[in-house]
Amino acid sequence: MSIRTPLIAGNWKMNLNIEQSVALVKAIAEGIKGISGVDVLVAPPFTNLYAVKQAIGNSEILLAAQNMHWEKEGAFTGEVSPQMLIDAGCSHVILGHSERRNLFKENDETINLKVKSAYLSGLTPIVCIGETLSERENGWTFDVIRNQLKGSLRFFTEEGRMPASVILAYEPVWAIGTGKTATPEQAQEIQFFIREWIKETFDKDTSDQVRILYGGSVKPDNASALMACPDIDGALVGGASLKPESFMGIIKF
Ligand code: PGA
Repeated sequence: MSIRTPLIAGNWKMNLNIEQSVALVKAIAEGIKGISGVDVLVAPPFTNLYAVKQAIGNSEILLAAQNMHWEKEGAFTGEVSPQMLIDAGCSHVILGHSERRNLFKENDETINLKVKSAYLSGLTPIVCIGETLSERENGWTFDVIRNQLKGSLRFFTEEGRMPASVILAYEPVWAIGTGKTATPEQAQEIQFFIREWIKETFDKDTSDQVRILYGGSVKPDNASALMACPDIDGALVGGASLKPESFMGIIKF
């Protein structure tokens, strides 16, 4: 039995209006009553964060944003700061999602600035990494993952320590929204590699405690096999987090 409490996180991406978001989070709050031993998080779009926070009320559901800017305030049209996310009720923020990297040209350098700023502001970063299909087919997976870890977590590697509260998410790009899940063996191989990297870069205590999520077409019917892997500490769920039945099905893995 792992010492790490599993985390099931729903990334709603650019979906759901305020009314739908509130209804969904209320259904999840109702559904998790009486369930223990698992942390649950939702990441709605920016415009729905405050309303979702109000709807969460006394439930233990955690609230995350899907992105942020690293600066505190200023002339950055279209951006949202860590302080604004905290003000809206967030405790966590997803950073470096592959859609941010691929569609919006984010790179390890800017992701590192965001990770640093989130951490120094008091937000827990959920840092995403993962290889594309061609990178995997070329046999570059381990190099890609190592470089993303080094680059996105540079602030911590330079400090020589990383808080165990930081959450990592391995999301093979070829498995996101495609219905192609990594097999538990494929996922476990990389999750183990990530944990070893944390051990070598920081220390064993940190690597024992840090939660490493898996993401990419997680569904109720594949969640338990993935979650049975020793180095998978939860799931970052896209599509299946938008309906209470399927998200609850994963929470009850
Ligand atoms: P998916 O998305 O579950 O729809 O594959 C996962 C993610 O992008 O976090």
